[in-house]
Amino acid sequence: MKTFYVTTPIYYANSFPHLGSLYPTIVADSLRRHFRQRGYETYFLTGTDEHGINIQRYAERQGVTPKEYADEIVANFKKTFSEFGLDTEHGGYDIFMRTTEPFHYEGVSELWRRVAKTKTPKGNAAIYKGHYEGWFCASCAAFKSEEEYAKPEREGDPPTCLEHLRPLDFVAEESYFFRLSDYTETLLDLYDKQPEFIRPETRRNEVISFVSGGLQDLSISRQKSSVSWGIPVPDDPTHTIYVWFDALTNYITAIGFGNEERERVVGFEKFWPAVHLVGKDILRFHAVYWPAFLLAAGVETPRTVFAHGMWLDPTGRRMSKTLGNAIDLGILHSHFSNDAVRYYCLREMVFGQDGKFGYETLIDRTNSDLANGLGNLAARTLSMIGKYRAGQIPSGKISEEHFLVAKRAGVDTDDQPLASSLEHVRDQFLLLYGDFAFSRALELAWSIIARVDKLISDAKPWELVKSEEQRETLNAVLYRAGETLRWLSILLYPVIPEASEKIYEQLGLKGELETIDPAQLVWGGLQEGTRIGEVKPLFPRIDKAKTMAAIEKESEPAGVHATEADAVAGAPTNAETKPEPPMLGASEADAVPAGHTEAQTEASFIEIGDFDKVELRVGQVLTAERIPKSDKLLRFTIDLGEEEPRQILAGIAEHYEPEKMIGRKVVVVANLKSRKLRGFESQGMILAASVGEEGKPILASFLEDVPNGARLK
Ligand code: MSP
Repeated sequence: MKTFYVTTPIYYANSFPHLGSLYPTIVADSLRRHFRQRGYETYFLTGTDEHGINIQRYAERQGVTPKEYADEIVANFKKTFSEFGLDTEHGGYDIFMRTTEPFHYEGVSELWRRVAKTKTPKGNAAIYKGHYEGWFCASCAAFKSEEEYAKPEREGDPPTCLEHLRPLDFVAEESYFFRLSDYTETLLDLYDKQPEFIRPETRRNEVISFVSGGLQDLSISRQKSSVSWGIPVPDDPTHTIYVWFDALTNYITAIGFGNEERERVVGFEKFWPAVHLVGKDILRFHAVYWPAFLLAAGVETPRTVFAHGMWLDPTGRRMSKTLGNAIDLGILHSHFSNDAVRYYCLREMVFGQDGKFGYETLIDRTNSDLANGLGNLAARTLSMIGKYRAGQIPSGKISEEHFLVAKRAGVDTDDQPLASSLEHVRDQFLLLYGDFAFSRALELAWSIIARVDKLISDAKPWELVKSEEQRETLNAVLYRAGETLRWLSILLYPVIPEASEKIYEQLGLKGELETIDPAQLVWGGLQEGTRIGEVKPLFPRIDKAKTMAAIEKESEPAGVHATEADAVAGAPTNAETKPEPPMLGASEADAVPAGHTEAQTEASFIEIGDFDKVELRVGQVLTAERIPKSDKLLRFTIDLGEEEPRQILAGIAEHYEPEKMIGRKVVVVANLKSRKLRGFESQGMILAASVGEEGKPILASFLEDVPNGARLK
């Protein structure tokens, strides 16, 4: 049997799932459903990337082990994927891969050993020990060359990663190197001989041009003393394997590389090589380093690495928590059906290019294409079959003696033109879909919906039903619409599985859509006399104004007013506020011990241990701006000496000009539970004295120079 193995990137286990993790998982899920229908035995992998300095640091900050930290993130990923119908139970992924699995450790060690034994095409040892000195971005998990970072403004400060805008770590240590420089020609040869290895074409050209410029050797280990959270280098436990070498290898360890038990259960031989879906930001790792490691180990390279674009917000900005423009998956799930989200993702973004994701356009697409388009066609067809033909599929044939009357009603006596169009659309759809052109495939499928809608509107069944001599004409119209729906339910199953199953059932049909190959569909398969099922709406229309108002309200929780009290005086979080913690652990409960308020009114004294729980740190304002429609709030990004600056909101706009705040040192409550104000996440609180009856805020500051991140005790 032919096999198809599709993978998503494995997501960093340092933050909860977001649109960037949902999207590739939806695409992979739909591709695997498509190939399963086409008769392939499929395997679909998603999962988490759990090692490395970044996760080690997040865990340290929370006072938990990295594994405990990752476990909680993984639980959240699995819950989210289940809600969106992407887990095994819903016919989704076959494995939620974790790089902390023991069999993965075995497989990575095996790959390392094989590479270590190899001679490069130029006859050198593929792995050698050397000394590394340079700048490393913990978020990218990558060393950065001069073109990839911004020089610091102040001498002595570290440079900043252009991708993550975070300060880089300086690394100067002994390291194992992979002799990537010896693989330049071999890789160029691979791209040449296997043109579908990197897709789309534009990305392929970029990679070819990058590799043609010559490759540098790659540091593939860190000293255990600096990065302990990872897989030890075989035979040298003082080194930890570089996180990308470890993470990329998941694609083969998951299916049995380096582990006999998994090879038996899944089958490396059976499923490899895979199709990797990756974001364009991580293409280099997949299209240069990964095949080079595999070539060195004598393992076949992947079939295709397809780089998709980024989802941007409706104004074209990159989505990020700091900007407050990220899509909240909780909100997405509560207002939209899984099928609507899937359809939008696959239709709206041309796979390979950037796309814009906005709630308003999602509502528009759902209403126009799903509710008014497919949903309406199904509803009107099925309800007419119910009403005019007592719920039974009529015959599609018009006998010769009724040709004339049918023609008079404007109905083609021959159903072949429609059948041929449908066949053509089906064939094109399958070609496009299998070739990752989801948006075009869907556009085409919707052209058939428009055609059949027109057929119904032109024939006016509600008029035909009044005339006995048009009985066969009406039958034919209803049959053609019903048969088209049958085709569409099968064809669209990979995109909108829940609705497709409903259409199929409502047509009175039984069967597993995932095992019906659309290529085998033959016009006329819908049997006369079939009793249709109960007709229920597939995609209820979404009230745009109401839903947008609800979404806005949820993004900016009820009861939270942007007041000074909120932002500078530490008012308790409103009970209805559901902050989305960016990190685990730090909660208001940590900061304010139970019984605190009571104790204070009784004696006005706290224990030193109580004070110790409040983490006050020195921060420096990097950016400051007003919040639209708020007189009081300013939005800051503040450097607390962490890898990433924090976004903090403060209600001081009436007293401080944002421009004058830049560069200023402030005192921040660093372990306050994050919360949303006016739709923006605030990850801490700036301290100020509250002066006079109006409580004018005066910011706490220092006379001496203090480093960012210093703790106040
Ligand atoms: N852990 C690595 C991947 C290792 S694979 C062996 C990683 N993880 S990630 O969680 O940071 O990113 C996972 C994927 O999310 C990447 O492919 C990235 O492109 C994608 N996205 C993150 N933000 C995105 C959008 N706004 N839009 C679409 N995808 C984006 O990188």
